[in-house]
Amino acid sequence: MNTTDLQKQLYIQIETALKELDLPSKPETLYQPYRYALDGGGKRIRPILTMLSCGICEGDPKNALPSALAIEILHNFTLVHDDIMDSADTRRGKPSVFKKWDENIAILSGDVMFAGAMQQLSFYGEDESFSKNEFAALYDIFLKATVTVCEGQALDMEFVDRQDVQLSEYIEMISGKTAALLSGSLEMGAIAAHASDIQRKEMHDLGMELGIAFQIQDDLLDAIADPEKFGKRPGGDIFEGKKTYLTILALERANEEQKTHIQKTLLDESPTEESVEKVLDIIDSLNVIEDVAAELNKRYEKAKELLAHFPDSEYKQELENLLIFLQNRDH
Ligand code: IPE
Ligand code: IPE
Ligand code: MG
Ligand code: MG
Ligand code: MG
Repeated sequence: MNTTDLQKQLYIQIETALKELDLPSKPETLYQPYRYALDGGGKRIRPILTMLSCGICEGDPKNALPSALAIEILHNFTLVHDDIMDSADTRRGKPSVFKKWDENIAILSGDVMFAGAMQQLSFYGEDESFSKNEFAALYDIFLKATVTVCEGQALDMEFVDRQDVQLSEYIEMISGKTAALLSGSLEMGAIAAHASDIQRKEMHDLGMELGIAFQIQDDLLDAIADPEKFGKRPGGDIFEGKKTYLTILALERANEEQKTHIQKTLLDESPTEESVEKVLDIIDSLNVIEDVAAELNKRYEKAKELLAHFPDSEYKQELENLLIFLQNRDH
Protein backbone atom coordinates (compact mmCIF):
# COMPACT_ATOMS: atom_id res chain seq x y z
CA MET A 1 0.00 0.00 0.00
CA ASN A 2 1.40 3.39 -0.96
CA THR A 3 0.63 4.91 2.40
CA THR A 4 0.88 8.54 3.32
CA ASP A 5 1.89 9.74 6.76
CA LEU A 6 -1.69 10.27 7.92
CA GLN A 7 -2.82 6.82 6.88
CA LYS A 8 0.28 5.26 8.45
CA GLN A 9 -0.41 7.15 11.65
CA LEU A 10 -4.01 5.89 11.80
CA TYR A 11 -2.90 2.35 10.96
CA ILE A 12 -0.34 2.41 13.77
CA GLN A 13 -2.93 3.73 16.26
CA ILE A 14 -5.28 0.90 15.32
CA GLU A 15 -2.58 -1.81 15.42
CA THR A 16 -1.32 -0.56 18.78
CA ALA A 17 -4.80 -0.45 20.29
CA LEU A 18 -5.54 -3.97 19.01
CA LYS A 19 -2.24 -5.26 20.46
CA GLU A 20 -3.03 -3.58 23.78
CA LEU A 21 -6.46 -5.20 24.12
CA ASP A 22 -6.20 -6.90 27.44
CA LEU A 23 -7.41 -10.43 26.69
CA PRO A 24 -7.40 -12.96 29.53
CA SER A 25 -4.85 -15.77 29.16
CA LYS A 26 -7.31 -18.51 30.09
CA PRO A 27 -9.15 -20.47 28.84
CA GLU A 28 -6.44 -20.78 26.20
CA THR A 29 -8.77 -22.39 23.66
CA LEU A 30 -10.97 -19.29 23.83
CA TYR A 31 -8.46 -16.45 23.85
CA GLN A 32 -5.57 -17.81 21.77
CA PRO A 33 -7.74 -18.09 18.63
CA TYR A 34 -9.15 -14.60 19.40
CA ARG A 35 -5.62 -13.17 19.51
CA TYR A 36 -4.54 -15.23 16.46
CA ALA A 37 -7.45 -13.87 14.41
CA LEU A 38 -6.74 -10.27 15.39
CA ASP A 39 -2.98 -10.55 14.81
CA GLY A 40 -3.46 -12.06 11.38
CA GLY A 41 -2.27 -9.07 9.37
CA GLY A 42 -5.49 -7.78 7.85
CA LYS A 43 -5.53 -4.58 5.83
CA ARG A 44 -7.54 -2.77 8.58
CA ILE A 45 -9.63 -1.04 5.93
CA ARG A 46 -12.77 -0.74 8.07
CA PRO A 47 -11.23 0.92 11.16
CA ILE A 48 -9.24 3.28 8.90
CA LEU A 49 -12.53 4.22 7.23
CA THR A 50 -14.11 4.91 10.63
CA MET A 51 -11.31 7.22 11.68
CA LEU A 52 -11.14 9.01 8.34
CA SER A 53 -14.90 9.52 8.31
CA CYS A 54 -14.67 11.12 11.76
CA GLY A 55 -11.94 13.48 10.53
CA ILE A 56 -13.88 14.32 7.37
CA CYS A 57 -16.90 15.25 9.50
CA GLU A 58 -14.64 17.59 11.46
CA GLY A 59 -14.31 15.43 14.57
CA ASP A 60 -11.19 14.27 16.41
CA PRO A 61 -10.37 10.81 14.95
CA LYS A 62 -9.26 9.68 18.43
CA ASN A 63 -12.95 9.73 19.42
CA ALA A 64 -13.61 7.21 16.66
CA LEU A 65 -11.01 4.71 17.90
CA PRO A 66 -13.40 2.64 20.11
CA SER A 67 -15.85 2.39 17.18
CA ALA A 68 -12.97 1.49 14.86
CA LEU A 69 -11.86 -1.30 17.21
CA ALA A 70 -15.44 -2.54 17.61
CA ILE A 71 -15.78 -2.78 13.83
CA GLU A 72 -12.41 -4.51 13.29
CA ILE A 73 -13.09 -7.09 16.02
CA LEU A 74 -16.57 -7.68 14.57
CA HIS A 75 -15.06 -8.09 11.09
CA ASN A 76 -12.55 -10.66 12.34
CA PHE A 77 -15.32 -12.53 14.14
CA THR A 78 -17.27 -12.74 10.85
CA LEU A 79 -14.15 -14.12 9.13
CA VAL A 80 -13.64 -16.81 11.79
CA HIS A 81 -17.19 -18.06 11.25
CA ASP A 82 -17.14 -17.44 7.47
CA ASP A 83 -14.16 -19.78 7.05
CA ILE A 84 -16.12 -22.57 8.71
CA MET A 85 -19.10 -21.91 6.43
CA ASP A 86 -16.87 -21.75 3.32
CA SER A 87 -14.61 -24.69 4.32
CA ALA A 88 -11.73 -22.27 3.75
CA ASP A 89 -8.48 -23.70 5.12
CA THR A 90 -6.41 -20.56 4.57
CA ARG A 91 -6.88 -16.96 5.70
CA ARG A 92 -4.27 -14.24 5.19
CA GLY A 93 -1.81 -16.93 4.08
CA LYS A 94 -2.13 -18.89 7.32
CA PRO A 95 -4.39 -21.72 8.53
CA SER A 96 -7.86 -20.39 9.32
CA VAL A 97 -8.92 -20.61 12.97
CA PHE A 98 -11.07 -23.74 12.58
CA LYS A 99 -8.19 -25.46 10.76
CA LYS A 100 -5.57 -24.51 13.34
CA TRP A 101 -7.85 -25.53 16.22
CA ASP A 102 -11.27 -27.02 15.41
CA GLU A 103 -14.79 -25.94 14.52
CA ASN A 104 -16.14 -25.81 18.06
CA ILE A 105 -13.24 -23.65 19.18
CA ALA A 106 -13.74 -21.35 16.18
CA ILE A 107 -17.46 -20.98 16.90
CA LEU A 108 -16.94 -20.13 20.55
CA SER A 109 -13.99 -17.79 20.09
CA GLY A 110 -16.03 -16.04 17.40
CA ASP A 111 -18.87 -15.60 19.87
CA VAL A 112 -16.64 -14.04 22.49
CA MET A 113 -15.12 -11.74 19.86
CA PHE A 114 -18.58 -10.43 19.08
CA ALA A 115 -19.11 -9.59 22.75
CA GLY A 116 -15.62 -8.04 22.89
CA ALA A 117 -16.50 -5.85 19.93
CA MET A 118 -19.69 -4.59 21.61
CA GLN A 119 -17.82 -3.82 24.82
CA GLN A 120 -15.73 -1.23 22.97
CA LEU A 121 -18.81 0.90 22.49
CA SER A 122 -19.37 1.46 26.22
CA PHE A 123 -16.79 4.30 25.89
CA TYR A 124 -19.50 6.45 24.32
CA GLY A 125 -21.87 5.89 27.26
CA GLU A 126 -19.18 7.01 29.70
CA ASP A 127 -17.83 10.02 27.80
CA GLU A 128 -20.05 13.03 28.52
CA SER A 129 -19.45 14.70 25.19
CA PHE A 130 -21.68 12.03 23.58
CA SER A 131 -25.44 12.44 23.92
CA LYS A 132 -27.77 9.54 24.76
CA ASN A 133 -29.00 9.68 21.18
CA GLU A 134 -25.50 9.38 19.75
CA PHE A 135 -24.66 6.49 22.09
CA ALA A 136 -27.87 4.71 21.05
CA ALA A 137 -27.23 5.45 17.37
CA LEU A 138 -23.78 3.84 17.53
CA TYR A 139 -25.22 0.65 19.02
CA ASP A 140 -28.05 0.73 16.54
CA ILE A 141 -25.76 0.96 13.49
CA PHE A 142 -23.37 -1.66 14.88
CA LEU A 143 -26.18 -4.14 15.56
CA LYS A 144 -28.05 -3.43 12.31
CA ALA A 145 -24.82 -3.99 10.38
CA THR A 146 -24.35 -7.30 12.21
CA VAL A 147 -27.91 -8.44 11.48
CA THR A 148 -27.51 -7.46 7.82
CA VAL A 149 -24.19 -9.33 7.53
CA CYS A 150 -25.94 -12.45 8.87
CA GLU A 151 -28.78 -12.00 6.35
CA GLY A 152 -26.25 -11.66 3.53
CA GLN A 153 -24.34 -14.72 4.71
CA ALA A 154 -27.61 -16.72 4.82
CA LEU A 155 -28.37 -15.74 1.21
CA ASP A 156 -24.78 -16.58 0.19
CA MET A 157 -25.35 -20.13 1.50
CA GLU A 158 -28.89 -20.43 0.07
CA PHE A 159 -27.58 -19.48 -3.37
CA VAL A 160 -25.20 -22.47 -3.41
CA ASP A 161 -28.23 -24.73 -3.93
CA ARG A 162 -29.83 -22.51 -6.58
CA GLN A 163 -29.19 -22.51 -10.32
CA ASP A 164 -31.11 -19.37 -11.26
CA VAL A 165 -29.58 -16.62 -9.09
CA GLN A 166 -29.96 -13.23 -10.80
CA LEU A 167 -27.45 -10.37 -10.66
CA SER A 168 -29.94 -8.26 -8.66
CA GLU A 169 -30.15 -11.02 -6.04
CA TYR A 170 -26.38 -11.25 -5.92
CA ILE A 171 -26.14 -7.47 -5.33
CA GLU A 172 -28.69 -7.79 -2.50
CA MET A 173 -26.62 -10.60 -0.97
CA ILE A 174 -23.29 -8.72 -1.05
CA SER A 175 -24.96 -5.50 0.13
CA GLY A 176 -25.66 -7.53 3.26
CA LYS A 177 -22.60 -9.69 3.78
CA THR A 178 -20.01 -7.01 2.97
CA ALA A 179 -21.32 -3.52 2.19
CA ALA A 180 -23.32 -3.23 5.44
CA LEU A 181 -20.15 -3.36 7.51
CA LEU A 182 -18.14 -0.98 5.32
CA SER A 183 -21.02 1.45 5.33
CA GLY A 184 -21.48 1.03 9.10
CA SER A 185 -17.76 1.77 9.57
CA LEU A 186 -18.13 5.14 7.85
CA GLU A 187 -21.42 6.02 9.53
CA MET A 188 -20.08 5.26 13.00
CA GLY A 189 -17.09 7.50 12.29
CA ALA A 190 -19.50 10.31 11.41
CA ILE A 191 -21.37 9.91 14.70
CA ALA A 192 -18.10 9.95 16.62
CA ALA A 193 -17.67 13.42 15.05
CA HIS A 194 -21.19 14.50 16.16
CA ALA A 195 -22.05 14.84 12.46
CA SER A 196 -25.44 15.93 11.11
CA ASP A 197 -28.03 13.41 9.87
CA ILE A 198 -27.29 14.49 6.31
CA GLN A 199 -23.57 13.76 6.66
CA ARG A 200 -24.33 10.41 8.28
CA LYS A 201 -26.58 9.49 5.38
CA GLU A 202 -23.92 10.55 2.85
CA MET A 203 -21.30 8.43 4.59
CA HIS A 204 -23.74 5.52 4.61
CA ASP A 205 -24.38 5.82 0.87
CA LEU A 206 -20.67 6.15 0.09
CA GLY A 207 -20.03 3.00 2.14
CA MET A 208 -22.66 1.01 0.24
CA GLU A 209 -21.07 1.83 -3.15
CA LEU A 210 -17.61 1.14 -1.78
CA GLY A 211 -18.74 -2.09 -0.09
CA ILE A 212 -20.44 -3.50 -3.19
CA ALA A 213 -17.36 -2.65 -5.28
CA PHE A 214 -15.13 -4.22 -2.63
CA GLN A 215 -16.98 -7.56 -2.67
CA ILE A 216 -17.25 -7.75 -6.47
CA GLN A 217 -13.50 -7.21 -6.47
CA ASP A 218 -12.99 -9.89 -3.79
CA ASP A 219 -14.87 -12.30 -6.07
CA LEU A 220 -12.67 -11.25 -8.99
CA LEU A 221 -9.47 -11.65 -6.96
CA ASP A 222 -10.69 -15.07 -5.80
CA ALA A 223 -10.47 -16.12 -9.45
CA ILE A 224 -7.42 -14.24 -10.72
CA ALA A 225 -5.22 -13.03 -7.82
CA ASP A 226 -1.75 -14.30 -6.96
CA PRO A 227 -2.59 -16.68 -4.07
CA GLU A 228 0.63 -15.72 -2.25
CA LYS A 229 -0.58 -12.13 -2.00
CA PHE A 230 -4.33 -12.80 -1.66
CA GLY A 231 -3.75 -15.35 1.09
CA LYS A 232 -6.79 -17.49 0.17
CA ARG A 233 -7.20 -20.60 -2.00
CA PRO A 234 -7.33 -19.69 -5.72
CA GLY A 235 -10.73 -20.49 -7.22
CA GLY A 236 -12.07 -21.07 -3.69
CA ASP A 237 -15.52 -19.69 -4.57
CA ILE A 238 -15.89 -22.14 -7.47
CA PHE A 239 -14.79 -25.08 -5.30
CA GLU A 240 -17.52 -24.08 -2.84
CA GLY A 241 -20.21 -23.59 -5.49
CA LYS A 242 -20.57 -19.88 -4.65
CA LYS A 243 -22.61 -17.62 -6.90
CA THR A 244 -20.43 -14.63 -7.72
CA TYR A 245 -20.66 -11.80 -10.24
CA LEU A 246 -18.26 -13.82 -12.39
CA THR A 247 -20.18 -17.08 -12.48
CA ILE A 248 -23.57 -15.38 -12.88
CA LEU A 249 -22.32 -13.34 -15.86
CA ALA A 250 -20.56 -16.38 -17.34
CA LEU A 251 -23.75 -18.46 -17.09
CA GLU A 252 -25.70 -15.70 -18.90
CA ARG A 253 -23.20 -15.76 -21.79
CA ALA A 254 -22.24 -19.43 -21.99
CA ASN A 255 -23.28 -21.85 -24.74
CA GLU A 256 -25.08 -25.04 -23.67
CA GLU A 257 -21.90 -27.09 -23.27
CA GLN A 258 -20.14 -24.40 -21.24
CA LYS A 259 -23.24 -23.83 -19.12
CA THR A 260 -23.50 -27.54 -18.32
CA HIS A 261 -19.85 -27.63 -17.27
CA ILE A 262 -20.13 -24.56 -15.02
CA GLN A 263 -23.33 -25.82 -13.36
CA LYS A 264 -21.96 -29.33 -12.86
CA THR A 265 -18.78 -27.99 -11.26
CA LEU A 266 -20.64 -25.58 -8.97
CA LEU A 267 -22.99 -28.35 -7.83
CA ASP A 268 -20.17 -30.86 -7.26
CA GLU A 269 -19.32 -31.17 -3.54
CA SER A 270 -15.64 -31.78 -4.35
CA PRO A 271 -14.83 -30.81 -7.91
CA THR A 272 -11.40 -31.64 -9.36
CA GLU A 273 -8.74 -28.97 -9.91
CA GLU A 274 -9.12 -29.55 -13.69
CA SER A 275 -12.85 -28.96 -13.58
CA VAL A 276 -12.39 -25.67 -11.68
CA GLU A 277 -9.59 -24.64 -14.07
CA LYS A 278 -11.94 -25.22 -16.98
CA VAL A 279 -14.61 -22.98 -15.39
CA LEU A 280 -11.94 -20.27 -15.04
CA ASP A 281 -10.98 -20.74 -18.73
CA ILE A 282 -14.62 -20.39 -19.78
CA ILE A 283 -14.97 -17.23 -17.67
CA ASP A 284 -11.85 -15.89 -19.38
CA SER A 285 -13.10 -16.71 -22.88
CA LEU A 286 -16.42 -14.89 -22.34
CA ASN A 287 -14.87 -11.47 -21.52
CA VAL A 288 -16.38 -11.66 -18.06
CA ILE A 289 -13.28 -10.37 -16.28
CA GLU A 290 -13.29 -7.07 -18.21
CA ASP A 291 -16.98 -6.44 -17.53
CA VAL A 292 -16.70 -7.29 -13.84
CA ALA A 293 -13.74 -4.90 -13.57
CA ALA A 294 -15.77 -2.21 -15.35
CA GLU A 295 -18.68 -2.67 -12.93
CA LEU A 296 -16.54 -2.35 -9.84
CA ASN A 297 -14.69 0.65 -11.27
CA LYS A 298 -18.02 2.34 -11.92
CA ARG A 299 -18.97 1.88 -8.28
CA TYR A 300 -15.62 3.18 -7.00
CA GLU A 301 -16.13 6.26 -9.18
CA LYS A 302 -19.60 6.74 -7.65
CA ALA A 303 -18.05 6.51 -4.18
CA LYS A 304 -15.53 9.21 -5.17
CA GLU A 305 -18.38 11.44 -6.40
CA LEU A 306 -20.17 11.06 -3.06
CA LEU A 307 -16.95 11.91 -1.22
CA ALA A 308 -16.74 15.16 -3.21
CA HIS A 309 -19.82 16.43 -1.28
CA PHE A 310 -17.72 16.81 1.89
CA PRO A 311 -15.58 19.87 2.68
CA ASP A 312 -11.90 19.65 1.72
CA SER A 313 -9.53 18.38 4.40
CA GLU A 314 -6.48 16.17 4.77
CA TYR A 315 -8.86 13.37 5.85
CA LYS A 316 -10.95 13.72 2.71
CA GLN A 317 -7.79 13.63 0.59
CA GLU A 318 -6.70 10.52 2.43
CA LEU A 319 -10.02 8.75 1.86
CA GLU A 320 -9.73 9.58 -1.81
CA ASN A 321 -6.23 8.04 -1.80
CA LEU A 322 -7.63 4.98 -0.03
CA LEU A 323 -10.41 4.60 -2.62
CA ILE A 324 -7.80 4.71 -5.39
CA PHE A 325 -5.65 2.19 -3.54
CA LEU A 326 -8.62 -0.14 -3.07
CA GLN A 327 -9.64 0.20 -6.70
CA ASN A 328 -6.16 -1.02 -7.69
CA ARG A 329 -5.64 -3.59 -4.95
CA ASP A 330 -4.27 -7.06 -5.68
CA HIS A 331 -5.04 -8.67 -2.29
C1 IPE B 1 -12.43 -10.01 3.61
O1 IPE B 1 -12.26 -8.67 3.93
C2 IPE B 1 -13.88 -10.33 3.64
C3 IPE B 1 -14.66 -9.63 2.61
C4 IPE B 1 -15.66 -8.86 2.91
C5 IPE B 1 -14.36 -9.81 1.21
P1 IPE B 1 -10.84 -7.94 3.83
O2 IPE B 1 -10.28 -8.13 2.44
O3 IPE B 1 -10.98 -6.56 4.32
O4 IPE B 1 -9.96 -8.80 4.84
P2 IPE B 1 -8.66 -8.44 5.69
O5 IPE B 1 -9.15 -8.02 7.04
O6 IPE B 1 -7.88 -7.37 4.99
O7 IPE B 1 -7.91 -9.74 5.74
C1 IPE C 1 -17.11 -12.23 2.96
O1 IPE C 1 -17.40 -13.06 1.94
C2 IPE C 1 -18.27 -11.91 3.86
C3 IPE C 1 -18.04 -12.07 5.30
C4 IPE C 1 -16.98 -12.57 5.85
C5 IPE C 1 -19.09 -11.62 6.16
P1 IPE C 1 -16.30 -14.11 1.42
O2 IPE C 1 -16.59 -15.47 1.91
O3 IPE C 1 -16.15 -13.91 -0.05
O4 IPE C 1 -14.97 -13.58 2.14
P2 IPE C 1 -13.54 -14.26 2.00
O5 IPE C 1 -13.24 -14.36 0.53
O6 IPE C 1 -13.64 -15.59 2.66
O7 IPE C 1 -12.62 -13.31 2.71
MG1 MG D 1 -15.17 -16.86 2.70
MG1 MG E 1 -18.25 -16.49 2.61
MG1 MG F 1 -14.27 -14.07 -1.13
